[in-house]
Amino acid sequence: MHLEVIVLAAGQGTRMKSRIPKVLHTVAGQPMLTRVFETVRALKPERTHVVISENGDRFQSIFSELDVNWVHQSEQLGTGHAVLQALPDLDSEAQALVVYGDCPLVKPSTLKRCAVEGQDGVGLISAVVPEPYGLGRIIRNPSGNVEAIIEQTDISPEQCEIKEINSGILSAPVGFLREHLPRLTDNNAQGEIYLTDLVAEAVSNGVQVNAIQAIDYQEVLGVNDRLQLAQVERVFQQRQAENLMKQGVSIADPSRFDCRGTVKTGIDCTMDINVILEGDIELGDNVRIGSNCILRNVQIASDTIIKENTVIEEAKIGRACSIGPFARIRPGTTLDDKVGIGNFVEVKNSQLASGVKAAHLAYLGDAEIGTDTNIGAGAITCNYDGKNKHRTTIGDNVFIGSNTSLIAPITIESGSAVAAGSSITRNVNADELVIERADQRIVKGGGTRFRRR
Ligand code: UD1
Ligand code: CA
Repeated sequence: MHLEVIVLAAGQGTRMKSRIPKVLHTVAGQPMLTRVFETVRALKPERTHVVISENGDRFQSIFSELDVNWVHQSEQLGTGHAVLQALPDLDSEAQALVVYGDCPLVKPSTLKRCAVEGQDGVGLISAVVPEPYGLGRIIRNPSGNVEAIIEQTDISPEQCEIKEINSGILSAPVGFLREHLPRLTDNNAQGEIYLTDLVAEAVSNGVQVNAIQAIDYQEVLGVNDRLQLAQVERVFQQRQAENLMKQGVSIADPSRFDCRGTVKTGIDCTMDINVILEGDIELGDNVRIGSNCILRNVQIASDTIIKENTVIEEAKIGRACSIGPFARIRPGTTLDDKVGIGNFVEVKNSQLASGVKAAHLAYLGDAEIGTDTNIGAGAITCNYDGKNKHRTTIGDNVFIGSNTSLIAPITIESGSAVAAGSSITRNVNADELVIERADQRIVKGGGTRFRRR
């Protein structure tokens, strides 16, 4: 089959009440139009034509990598009018498949069925939905054949009861569309040229209309307002959660799981509630992620535990680490195996070798830290002098006492120890102990005087 797809994506979508074109609102972090393109691509059409509004620069820049034919519709005069704008660009021998840019949940198999059904007439996808209000209704005659589609604004009270609706997905040979589409009028409540009127036009010309019902009505959910956008988002997320569960990941509550990217996982990973995964995520086996964690472009090796309320971005984490709760791992960080990062520890652009522990309240920025080194509570790398960033290098088996300031650039060699409360400005050699604090003064009876003051 020589298939060409027309994606209708023009107009702002008045009910969205937005300055952003409707189809650029996101589903799982990507414009819903991207989701439609992903589905269309699976059909391997000869060409894809996308109807957008006149000022389409925004689309061309977002989708600059995409090999599609952009068609401009200067005024949004209806879905039939939109298809008419694209028609001159289609091969006259092609089978056309029309999909709406505001229906991002449809599956490739459903589109394929529609294209096949439309080869000798008109094929369309319908669905029986619990809430048909606002949608075009499928009108069938007593023998069950489709006769017309009536839009909500043009409907009679009896037709209002019909629960079989039009998805908007339609397929017909290009030759048929070229002959019949120009005959449609805007003689309806909205004064638009409806693509849906093509059905009655086909029937009155003795052309067969095959309406096949979507197996799952959620596939044809469209987005006209922000409420529907949120509903579509949930369905999409539910599907992603199901996919992960099928791959051996336990998700505590699939309705409180969000993935806005791609995930590769091993088996026996677990995710507690409210985990958000963004960008490219790779997990080994048996990675446990606590509630309220956010992971963005992260690789985590097997047997690592990420405790609740931890945020990790652009980082690579080794095996059997323990991170959090309330930890923040920022871009450019690599943690080797068995690293322990505790609460209120921030690590940025640093490389921590295996066995490093920073259990409480620390800032490690632009640092390289050797094997089994211990970082005390409240220790920080002073990496910024107000102008430039500097590196801190710490060797293996170093003890950094609590509340120390390591003023970079600085090197603390292996086996050394830094006493608590020190501000270190000069390099520390291997095996040295440095204590940098004022001597403790004792005033006998001073406590009493202090209280009486
Ligand atoms: C449309 C169908 C309705 C169906 C519903 C399914 C028509 C007349 N009605 O109604 O039968 O039940 O979808 O969701 O087709 N668009 C253009 N140019 C235009 C008008 C629309 O490109 O001039 C695009 C929009 O960007 C949108 C799509 O076509 O992606 C559908 O338009 P919309 O106005 O949302 O139609 P509905 O009222 O939802
Ligand atoms: Ca719509």
